[in-house]
Amino acid sequence: MSETSMQHPDVESVLFDEETIASIVKRMGEEITRDYHDRDLVLIAVLRGAVVFMGDLMRAIDVPLAIDFMAVSSYGDKAKSSGVVRIVKDLDMDIKGRDVLIVEDILDSGLTLKYLMKNLSSRKPASIEVATFLWKDIEGKQAAINPKYVGTHCPDAFVVGYGLDFAERYRNLPYVGILKPEVYS
Ligand code: IMP
Ligand code: MG
Repeated sequence: MSETSMQHPDVESVLFDEETIASIVKRMGEEITRDYHDRDLVLIAVLRGAVVFMGDLMRAIDVPLAIDFMAVSSYGDKAKSSGVVRIVKDLDMDIKGRDVLIVEDILDSGLTLKYLMKNLSSRKPASIEVATFLWKDIEGKQAAINPKYVGTHCPDAFVVGYGLDFAERYRNLPYVGILKPEVYS
């Protein structure tokens, strides 16, 4: 069977299909277009998970913009957050005085983004906000940062697809699905 054409055998259930994802991204693009029409927008995607969302989101935004990428490592191949964040690849661009929007695939504890926002703020951008495709709801826990743009909430399960991986696999699935626990435990 091919990797992407049907529901993958390692996926327990599909949470967001392609059509749902497209309408979420369209709505977010409209919100960002409205808010940034007279600004100097730089989208910064966090590699590698956010590249798929970045590719869709940037085409849904109808204002001039630049893009750049950062890579941080916080998860390794494990299914839970270590809280340890390390910059693996830094920006190529100078963001001083510009309006930075960090593009993320999924917000969980928010520790990764908290660290990134602190780091990027020290470079004196005009503004800095976060657009996350998914926000993982965890009972009794509050994320360390408050994203301005949220695609949709997702349950506290390990999800893959639409850029999200487990051990670098499943990023190419066109939908977001819950990974079967036996695959990672
Ligand atoms: P945080 O620092 O706990 O918010 O971790 C966020 C990062 O962990 C995301 O950018 C993802 O790379 C990764 N992550 C968190 N939850 C999942 C998941 O369910 N599937 C795949 N990656 C995840
Ligand atoms: Mg990520």
